[in-house]
Amino acid sequence: MREEKFMENNLGKIVPVISGKGGVGKSTVAVNLALALAQQGKKVALIDADFYGPSIPTLLGGGEMKADHEGRLIPPERNGVKYVSLGFFLSNPDDAVIWRGPMFNKALNQLFHDVNWGVVEYCIVDMPPGTGDAQISLVQMVQIAGAVVVTTPQEVALADVRKALSMLQKVNVPVLGIVENMSGFLAPDGTRHEIFGSGGGRALAERQGVPLLGQIPLDPAIREGGDLGEPVVLEAGESAARQLFSGLATQVTTELEQESFSGQKTAIVN
Ligand SMILES: Nc1ncnc2c1ncn2[C@@H]1O[C@H](COP(=O)(O)OP(=O)(O)O)[C@@H](O)[C@H]1O
Ligand SMILES: [Mg+2]
Repeated sequence: MREEKFMENNLGKIVPVISGKGGVGKSTVAVNLALALAQQGKKVALIDADFYGPSIPTLLGGGEMKADHEGRLIPPERNGVKYVSLGFFLSNPDDAVIWRGPMFNKALNQLFHDVNWGVVEYCIVDMPPGTGDAQISLVQMVQIAGAVVVTTPQEVALADVRKALSMLQKVNVPVLGIVENMSGFLAPDGTRHEIFGSGGGRALAERQGVPLLGQIPLDPAIREGGDLGEPVVLEAGESAARQLFSGLATQVTTELEQESFSGQKTAIVN
């Protein structure tokens, strides 16, 4: 059945970015990961499936969707990343959206299938927070190559991530690994300070038997880049943040290019 899901489009390896909670930096990771993959020469799509707060258009500085002569949607492109957002379907981006299940499914389906994606090797999907219907819909709709799970180091976020990992395991989605975001604070003078602590993501990854894909500090440049629509990986020069996201992209491709990758079977230990 699953093979039939991609008659018109080949979106390559589909990588959802998932978190237990909102506000942990899922969209930030999704955007910078997508751009870092493009910088490494990959053909990349980025799908914003967060109907609670679609933020990819803001993070990438806007964009609009046009239709081609066959009525298929043409995604805007930024630095080699083609992207679409549920936000493009809202007349007012500030509208609160209450997508009922079937509406959400239809909209998500359109983002995958009614868009003229061309050739794509990696498709990053920015998911809504949590482990609800949206995640299940995605799993039923497309074949997922592997999920990137984002957390912050605090225990409360980690508890939600354990739930997310357990959900992914139940629906047989391979987990590429965990990104510990906001892991310490990187001051402009280059010194690192602990705010939320750090290392919680590492400990969790070890306990669950999944790779730790990276530890990204709280870095004012990351937030500013997001607000300005100029993601930090696009900055000239080799900033610490840029190197971290680039390393994340390398880990994701390395794992997924292994013929044998079938996901780390997470041994859930609560
Ligand atoms: N490592 C980081 N350093 C500084 N600010 C960050 C970092 N990660 C995320 N942010 C900021 O935190 C806020 C929430 O991030 P966002 O990616 O929107 O989270 P989510 O998608 O999980 O809700 C945004 O303002 C973003 O710029
Ligand atoms: Mg988000």
